[in-house]
Amino acid sequence: METMWAGRFKKQISEMTNKFNASIGIDKRMFEEDIKGSMAHAAMLGAQGIIPESEADKLIEGLDSILSDLKSGKLKIDENAEDIHMFVESELTKRLGETGKRLHTARSRNDQVALDNRLYVKKEIAAVQGELKNLIGVLVTLAEGNLDTIMPGYTHLQRAQPVTFAHHLMAYASMFMRDYDRMSDVNKRTDVMPLGSCALAGTTHPIDRFAVAKTLGFSEVCFNSMDGVSDRDFMLEFAGALAIVMMHLSRLSEEVILWCSWEFKFLELDDAYATGSSIMPQKKNPDISELVRGKTGRVYGNLMALLTVMKGLPLAYNKDMQEDKENLFDSVDTVKTCLAITAEMLRTSTVLKENMLKAGKQGFINATDVADYLAKKGEPFRSAYKITGELVALAIEKNTTLDALSLEDYHRFSPLFNEDIYKEIDLKTCVKKRVSYGGPAEESVKKQIGIVKKFLTEAK
Ligand code: ARG
Repeated sequence: METMWAGRFKKQISEMTNKFNASIGIDKRMFEEDIKGSMAHAAMLGAQGIIPESEADKLIEGLDSILSDLKSGKLKIDENAEDIHMFVESELTKRLGETGKRLHTARSRNDQVALDNRLYVKKEIAAVQGELKNLIGVLVTLAEGNLDTIMPGYTHLQRAQPVTFAHHLMAYASMFMRDYDRMSDVNKRTDVMPLGSCALAGTTHPIDRFAVAKTLGFSEVCFNSMDGVSDRDFMLEFAGALAIVMMHLSRLSEEVILWCSWEFKFLELDDAYATGSSIMPQKKNPDISELVRGKTGRVYGNLMALLTVMKGLPLAYNKDMQEDKENLFDSVDTVKTCLAITAEMLRTSTVLKENMLKAGKQGFINATDVADYLAKKGEPFRSAYKITGELVALAIEKNTTLDALSLEDYHRFSPLFNEDIYKEIDLKTCVKKRVSYGGPAEESVKKQIGIVKKFLTEAK
């Protein structure tokens, strides 16, 4: 086959090299970004008088028709082309003849691919943010129905202190809000236009990079042409931010898996979002959450792969950088799917409130409240803590709970205990009194929900 660079070469490219060198199978997904970039470039070439305005118009028309033919399926991407840039240019030349050959004036595939990458990342940041918002919305709805659903909060996966399911869910809402903000931060540094860097050293043509940036909706223009074609850190940041989303999703998944076990039984998944076993008839497995937890590995791996691709590259473009897309695309696809399916799975699940309360009643999660009771009556907290520890030991010995110990038992350890201790360590009271800002009391969680809802309506 004849390559674009045939003039310099005496032999044709081998079939093997051609296949190995190609990226069309991967970068074809950016056809729209590529064509829009070319349209903006052509318009600028015309406006600057670098090519005749009439030819610029023809280029734009031709590109536009390629775009709609690709979208309608009338035109199929030629998998034998080297990459999406070559495919569009050769299709344009097929359609327009000599005029098509003017498009690549004052441009290189090096700045073209940098542009496509940036346009793509900008688009996908918005898409991921949309999925994050959707999941946060589901968490809010679930929380609103569980403001008084008492459950144990855990440390070391040991029952620790009483919280509510709403409070627990709002912890995840705040994580996903930060993920959203992280995406906006990445967007700031992605929103910089590289076209006009050309191969690496700019151009002698009188281009107007700022006009191109305006047409394509970029806020800034990269100010160094070598950096413009060499930088992939916006993709790394995006891959990193996506890895953090997966870390959060994976922690949530881990909890869902625990909650669905007979050991916890806090959550019942809808049959449509669970799976059975091929041999054990009793099984109902949380496969979705396990897969989300598992897929976290590939998203972390994608970040590591991209970091490693970039680490030894001298300026400016190197073909290694063609390896920048496949991993990132995989991370984007994985994160969007995981966010969407987790949201649906949670939205359709049933919260087993009784079981949560039952778990709360065991495990001495009101022990801190006993110590606080004494501390409020004047006992220094450290001594109150010790007395409570002794009470817990007694309760364990008697195979009972703190609220079932007699007042006599309490008095063995401190005269400060009164009948009101029982009310004080009732789990409802324990939660109700935790009104500190950010705490699990209903009024406190309502404030948290208010913050999240405001975020949902205002986040851009
Ligand atoms: N397919 C290439 C990539 O994805 C486009 C840039 C090619 N540039 C070059 N000088 N060979 O990176």
